[in-house]
Amino acid sequence: MAKQDAEKRDLEQQARKQAYEEEQRKLKARTSKIRHKIAVISGKGGVGKSTVTVNLAMAFAMHGYAYSVGVLDADITGPCVPKIIGLHGQRLQAGPAGAFPAMGPLGIKVVSMDFLLPSDETPVIWRGPLKMKAISQFLSDIVWGELEFLFIDLPPGTGDEPLSIMQLIPEMDGVVIVTIPSEVSQIVVKKAVTFSRQLNIPVIGIIENMSGFVCPKCGAEIEIFKVGGGKKIAEDLKVPFLGRIPIDPEICEDSDRGTPFITEHMDSPATKAFMEIVKKIEFFLKTEKTQPQKVMKEGGN
Ligand SMILES: Nc1ncnc2c1ncn2[C@@H]1O[C@H](COP(=O)(O)OP(=O)(O)OP(=O)(O)O)[C@@H](O)[C@H]1O
Ligand SMILES: [Mg+2]
Repeated sequence: MAKQDAEKRDLEQQARKQAYEEEQRKLKARTSKIRHKIAVISGKGGVGKSTVTVNLAMAFAMHGYAYSVGVLDADITGPCVPKIIGLHGQRLQAGPAGAFPAMGPLGIKVVSMDFLLPSDETPVIWRGPLKMKAISQFLSDIVWGELEFLFIDLPPGTGDEPLSIMQLIPEMDGVVIVTIPSEVSQIVVKKAVTFSRQLNIPVIGIIENMSGFVCPKCGAEIEIFKVGGGKKIAEDLKVPFLGRIPIDPEICEDSDRGTPFITEHMDSPATKAFMEIVKKIEFFLKTEKTQPQKVMKEGGN
């Protein structure tokens, strides 16, 4: 009896190992068709990662990469990319090759836990290994197709999801770190930079979001969360500074409506900032390709 039990256990273990290897093989095959993978992280929560991820994806799509950009919402417990990009309530369509991402404006492909939940009130109450499994399947079982860019939106901090993503995609181009200018947020940015360095993932740069506010009534610039903190921390940590995005109430309204801000407000300072950031990221990717790790070495890695 004991021998039979041991054999059964061995067989189960072997089957699990084979399933894992098959998933990893599929994951590699799928992600190898995506030229650039960029994760968006932060130290603190609520600093605008998801908003920045969606608008950056839109900015790249507008910059000549329409139908070549994807967004993976890797915030398993608090997915909100679909809401911001206007896809809330959609479902993933399954085919023989796997499930297909939902299609947003300018052909942006989106995958999110939100598409799998039965209702808005349903919470995901999962520990780390289950979250990692979900993220792994989002990469291995989804038919992403050929893409130029995949942006990965992550929950705040350096917990399960960021760690899973970095381990599952070791060839990641790098991380973009979003912060607000205040010192409270800067302290946690240091942890995000150290996290990336320890995992050998390049830091593409820091974006200072919610950086200043121009009063629409009197035109005065008000520094609600201060200004310049993101730039300062980038200089202190010797990583590139990508730009400042001001507070604009329309960003919040558009996100709530599901209309990506930058397509609606082409001439706003925030849109201009996003387009400048696109150029800086492109520059980073080119430099990184021809001179691998140059920026990182200068950054003290
Ligand atoms: N520059 C901005 N101007 C005005 N509102 C903004 C700006 N950036 C983000 N917001 C608003 O701030 C709120 C938080 O943004 P968002 O959800 O993108 O943050 P997050 O960092 O992804 O949060 P979490 O840590 O929970 O994932 C949203 O309501 C969003 O519309
Ligand atoms: Mg978010």
